[in-house]
Amino acid sequence: MKIEKASEMGFCFGVRRALDLVSKAVQNYGNLQSLGAIVHNQQVVNYLSNMGVTIASGIDELTSETVIITSHGVGPQVIDTIKCRGLNIIDTTCPHVKTAQNTACQLANDGYSVIIYGDAGHPEVQGLLGWASGQGSAINDIAALPRKMPTRIGVISQTTQSLDQYIDFTKQLCSRLTEAVEIRLFNTICEATRHRLEAALELAKRVDVMIVVGGSNSANTKRLAETCISQGVDTYHIEKGDDLEASWFRGKSLVGVTAGASTPDRAIEEVISKLENMR
Ligand code: F3S
Repeated sequence: MKIEKASEMGFCFGVRRALDLVSKAVQNYGNLQSLGAIVHNQQVVNYLSNMGVTIASGIDELTSETVIITSHGVGPQVIDTIKCRGLNIIDTTCPHVKTAQNTACQLANDGYSVIIYGDAGHPEVQGLLGWASGQGSAINDIAALPRKMPTRIGVISQTTQSLDQYIDFTKQLCSRLTEAVEIRLFNTICEATRHRLEAALELAKRVDVMIVVGGSNSANTKRLAETCISQGVDTYHIEKGDDLEASWFRGKSLVGVTAGASTPDRAIEEVISKLENMR
């Protein structure tokens, strides 16, 4: 059984940057709280917890004097509330998410209804809705569009969506236009997501089994697994080496491995080493 790794996988620029900022903040401020998980990966959450970074699931749970905004970002109302309480902010919002936030804000200021292609419950999308100042809606299914379309629409995407699916969505959206409607489309999907999806797709076409390593609640890791499944290959989304089962590889000669943008190198290495032991 051969093992082949995707040409691009694992930690992205935004996650590495966020973790660097958090490490420096711990040195300067000691124990800290983040508003939500810094990244959606339990191993990283455990590592940060050992460094003294705990998670507050909402503003009302904040007890530390310094608060970390995660790489997913938050809406301006959240920032204002934290500042009003006199707390310090360490903002690790990914620059790509910041671009999407600025686009949502500009569109809303210019009088557009903002459609955000993404998962309504995801923290990044919640933040984008905040920047759209009450003029935004999060939609990932064309059937959820209102019957009567607004006359000025701006469309952006959650940064970790698949570009192909976003293009499909915008095509369907445009086909629904029945009256004089102005529509502006923006590609706010980050390059790291696109490259990881393309590399996973290329590998999934050639292997017998795909192993996708990453948090079960990581949006970009789930997207990788969906992309591999779409190629008809047996695909398993796991968090760690212990999740591997020998029966998945019986009679298989080539195993592909990829990992989400929030998956640490150590988790990938552990999975590869377990796979090598199974040969
Ligand atoms: Fe940023 Fe893209 Fe990573 S949005 S956090 S570089 S997946």
